[in-house]
Amino acid sequence: MDLKIVHWSIIGVGLGLVGCVLLILAANLALQAADEVSRVTEMFQGFQDGKCKSCHPAIWREWADSMHAKAWLDEVYQAAAKQITDRETKCDQCHAPQPILITGVGNMPKLRDEQREAGVSCLVCHLDAHGAMNGPAASAETYFHANLTNPIYTQPTTLCGTCHGQQSVPEHDQVSSFLNSKFADGDTSCATCHMPVVKRLQSTTSHESIKGRKHTWRGSRSVAQLRRAATVQLEYTDGKAVAKLRSKTGHILPGGTLRTIVLEVTLLASDGTELQKQQISISAEKENRLLPDENRTYTFDIVSATTGDTIKARLIYQLTPDTPEPKRILMVEKTHVVR
Ligand code: HEC
Ligand code: HEC
Ligand code: HEC
Ligand code: HEC
Ligand code: HEC
Repeated sequence: MDLKIVHWSIIGVGLGLVGCVLLILAANLALQAADEVSRVTEMFQGFQDGKCKSCHPAIWREWADSMHAKAWLDEVYQAAAKQITDRETKCDQCHAPQPILITGVGNMPKLRDEQREAGVSCLVCHLDAHGAMNGPAASAETYFHANLTNPIYTQPTTLCGTCHGQQSVPEHDQVSSFLNSKFADGDTSCATCHMPVVKRLQSTTSHESIKGRKHTWRGSRSVAQLRRAATVQLEYTDGKAVAKLRSKTGHILPGGTLRTIVLEVTLLASDGTELQKQQISISAEKENRLLPDENRTYTFDIVSATTGDTIKARLIYQLTPDTPEPKRILMVEKTHVVR
């Protein structure tokens, strides 16, 4: 045989082999990609069909009662978003987002096409592009989804900051004021106050109870949370009432831009008759919100006070400008009897 032909045929076979390998690799990658897409789709389907609910009933119940579950259906949100002409690019992307591990933690979230009514769902915080559930270290495995340990769940603000700390959306930023406070150096995280620690079986198929966190995210609609938000000290001397406020909140207070806290100081006669009332509003609109740990003193002239009268200082929380008086929440009350 001609040596040259042998040579060429060896090269031919070689090239063919390389081609085959490349083809197989490409096909594999395509299959893998298709598999990953279908795993992501499967998780969305599973969420819809109640699979997450059936294996994680406790976490589901907590989430379902939280504002994250209502982030899209929330009437206050829908009323505000209706006023915005390009709401699909300016508002909706955080109130019904795609999974943030897919669009990029820290990046501006993107609007989801399906399941918008589920708002900030389980998948938004946990599902990655491979169809795996990311979280803190798990104690068990499941056939339904892969578990992946990811440090962002135990970092102070990384996850939350994706929606609560976008620089371009200062109205919804609780993270900047947190990071500019004493909380920046400690062990405190957003979860410390909004996801209390609980030890339990994290799913119906887990074998042991492990430390996790409640998915409740109690905020401004929780009376208990509001009563922890600030303290007031009241003093009275020579016709002046002095109210000293101290914020105990992890961020700017009130945290949302729709909210108002009213400091109300009243003078009451010994029979309870109201003699005088003065109010100061604290809100984003007034540009006088309290920073974490801030002490602030307000002085009120109460020249007409006589022995036996009572001075009362109250902090009252108003969710929106239209919240009627009976629905406003009393955060703190202090009284002083004039001697
Ligand atoms: C970067 C993500 C993001 C974008 C964009 C965004 N929001 Fe929000 N929105 C949030 C977060 C986080 C909260 C809860 C914290 C807060 O109130 O600051 C919230 C809360 C609200 C609330 C309060 C609802 C309640 O609890 O009473 C309203 C109203 C609202 N958003 C309207 C809008 C409107 C209108 C737009 C568009 C102009 C918009 N949001 C754009 C993230 C976002
Ligand atoms: C067949 C039962 C089952 C179903 C269905 C299921 N899970 Fe799980 N899941 C588990 C088990 C078991 C663990 C591990 C729990 C433990 O650590 O004890 C787990 C862990 C997790 C974790 C933590 C992962 C980690 O590494 O920390 C997340 C997040 C999660 N599941 C979300 C979901 C969501 C969202 C759905 C619905 C799409 C879902 N699960 C459906 C059984 C299930
Ligand atoms: C994907 C976006 C997103 C992420 C991530 C996110 N949130 Fe939210 N969060 C929202 C939106 C949107 C709302 C407002 C829902 C509404 O009132 O319409 C909200 C509301 C809240 C509230 C207000 C509840 C109330 O009743 O006033 C708290 C508290 C909260 N989030 C805490 C957290 C914490 C803590 C984290 C991190 C573990 C976090 N959020 C992560 C989007 C997000
Ligand atoms: C706003 C983001 C957010 C949403 C929405 C969310 N989670 Fe989580 N999830 C977290 C964080 C943060 C942790 C880490 C808590 C910790 O440190 O233990 C966590 C932890 C978990 C764990 C591990 C056990 C634990 O408590 O640590 C499971 C399981 C889990 N989530 C399931 C779910 C399911 C199911 C849903 C929907 C019903 C859901 N999560 C919705 C943020 C979220
Ligand atoms: C030291 C406890 C503490 C820490 C830490 C903390 N918060 Fe809060 N948060 C509160 C209290 C108390 C309230 C209720 C008062 C208010 O609405 O501002 C609140 C309210 C909220 C609200 C509701 C605001 C509104 O107007 O509806 C959101 C959203 C929120 N926090 C998000 C966060 C995020 C994100 C972090 C992390 C950067 C965080 N919180 C850290 C105590 C804390």
